[in-house]
Amino acid sequence: MAAAGSAVGLGNIWKFPYVAGENGGGIFLIIYLVCVLLFGMPLVTTELVIGKRSRKSAYGAFRALRNNDRWQWLSWLCVVTAVLIMGFYFVVTGWCINYLAEAVMNAFKGFDAAQLTAHFQTVTTNTWRVILVSVIPVILTEVVLWFDVNKGIERLSKILMPLLLVMMVIMVVRVLLLDGSKVGLEFFFKTDFSQLSPKVVLVAMGQCFFSLSIGMGALITYGAYMPENQDVPMTSLQVVVLDTIVAVMAGMMIFPAVFAFGFNPAEGPELVFVVLPAIFEQMSFAWLSGVLFFTLLCIAALTSTISLMEVVVAFLVDATSHRPHPLDRRKSVLVTSAMAIALLLVCVLVPNTFDIFAEVTSCYLMPIGALAMSILVGWFLGNSFTTWYGKFFVFTIRWLVPIAIVLIFLNSLRLL
Ligand code: PHE
Repeated sequence: MAAAGSAVGLGNIWKFPYVAGENGGGIFLIIYLVCVLLFGMPLVTTELVIGKRSRKSAYGAFRALRNNDRWQWLSWLCVVTAVLIMGFYFVVTGWCINYLAEAVMNAFKGFDAAQLTAHFQTVTTNTWRVILVSVIPVILTEVVLWFDVNKGIERLSKILMPLLLVMMVIMVVRVLLLDGSKVGLEFFFKTDFSQLSPKVVLVAMGQCFFSLSIGMGALITYGAYMPENQDVPMTSLQVVVLDTIVAVMAGMMIFPAVFAFGFNPAEGPELVFVVLPAIFEQMSFAWLSGVLFFTLLCIAALTSTISLMEVVVAFLVDATSHRPHPLDRRKSVLVTSAMAIALLLVCVLVPNTFDIFAEVTSCYLMPIGALAMSILVGWFLGNSFTTWYGKFFVFTIRWLVPIAIVLIFLNSLRLL
């Protein structure tokens, strides 16, 4: 449940629709699904295996498995990636909190498409407000990690995640009943191969890594806490399937509405924030729907930020444990929060950093991390897998996954 909580988040509901919208809709969906099949299962399994076998954080895991320091750079890659993701992820979580507060106050009642777009600009260009609302999720995450209430969150998400799904089903149905929604469905499901480009493939691969939280140690960290008798392949399958369902449903909810209300599918990061309030307007319990949905979205975001911060916290505890001044868990939580706040300030205050962090992490750093992890497990631990599934898994991460990632990189550099 915790791994599913890490995977399902803003990546599915905020990022997936906007990158799909910018990259041709249907063609993006197909490539995304191929990436999930090719990379999703094997890499979620790879990371959980690294964590479960080493029982260490991203800092100690590679060293523990290989008995040498040659893979230590990979630990650093994981934390750097986690820290950069924190930067923009907290900002977007802040936008969600802002929209939740506004939904409670009924602030966008009666707004049309142009007003909603203008409203998003007003919200996000108000620097102090954005900083304020982005620091709130840092503090909430900090509290969870400080009091070690992960268990509580896990139980909570067992109830709330299904509720989010139910809510999304209702919204998909409502949206499909709108006049003009068919165009949106076509945009999302019709594959137009003329739109295929190296960039679409690179972005779809990156989205797959980001959405499943792979390639930066989040699942290693969770694997390290996994009970001995828990089945890794089964857990991986559940995480991958659930995450993909939520992403596809987000597309089915957003795109028909985009076309029915006259928005632009390639709007960019603001897409869901301008479209969602317009959907609630059309629903029977408009106020309640808005408040409930944004609440669930904030919680989905928090279960992801918890896993994100936990990577850095566990790293700091392990990395300093042999030093003269070791950081205990609580001190590490404080240091990590300070880093998160510093990075979110960079994202808010320095132009373009938001987009650069979002692109560099998912399109480059996470695939490189995953490439290295698949080589580590496939080539160095491969012989320890004896079942038929294990052998198939080893074949995939020895050959298919690394070759595919390298080809996609070369292709995006137009070297193929
Ligand atoms: N997978 C999360 C989402 O879809 C984002 C995330 C990435 C969380 C990496 C943790 C680590 O929202």
